[in-house]
Amino acid sequence: MRRLGYAPHALVESLHAAQEAFGYLDKPAMQFVATGLRVPLSRVYGAATFYHFFSLKPPGDHTCVVCTGTACHIKGAPDLLSAVAAEFSLKAGETSKDGKFSVLSARCIGTCGLAPAVVFDSEVAGKVTSEQMLERLRGWAAS
Ligand code: FES
Repeated sequence: MRRLGYAPHALVESLHAAQEAFGYLDKPAMQFVATGLRVPLSRVYGAATFYHFFSLKPPGDHTCVVCTGTACHIKGAPDLLSAVAAEFSLKAGETSKDGKFSVLSARCIGTCGLAPAVVFDSEVAGKVTSEQMLERLRGWAAS
């Protein structure tokens, strides 16, 4: 915020910095940004909930991002999410009850040739099958 002169247009970048620092945006962080930029908290909350890369909840120890862009959708991303829902009762955007992992979705991660693609923590995996995905999540759940 200081680098951008506490200007109201620095809202998204400031939220980005806060999420990078804390892993997610809780109410005190949003309040801090609202006060710093002198914008209403409702506007900060609006931005934080509008952009899907912002999270208002703490992430799990591990994250699994399923690409749901067009190529991945055609190649089976919905099957991957269905398999996770069936075994772990988790939808995209949710974290397991024990906090071990979060399942997220994204619109095209830029590796369409590998569809369906999944990012396990920061490692991109391509042509992922439901069984491979569940194996990875079972490993995280058991760790
Ligand atoms: S659509 Fe999944 S990587 Fe592009």
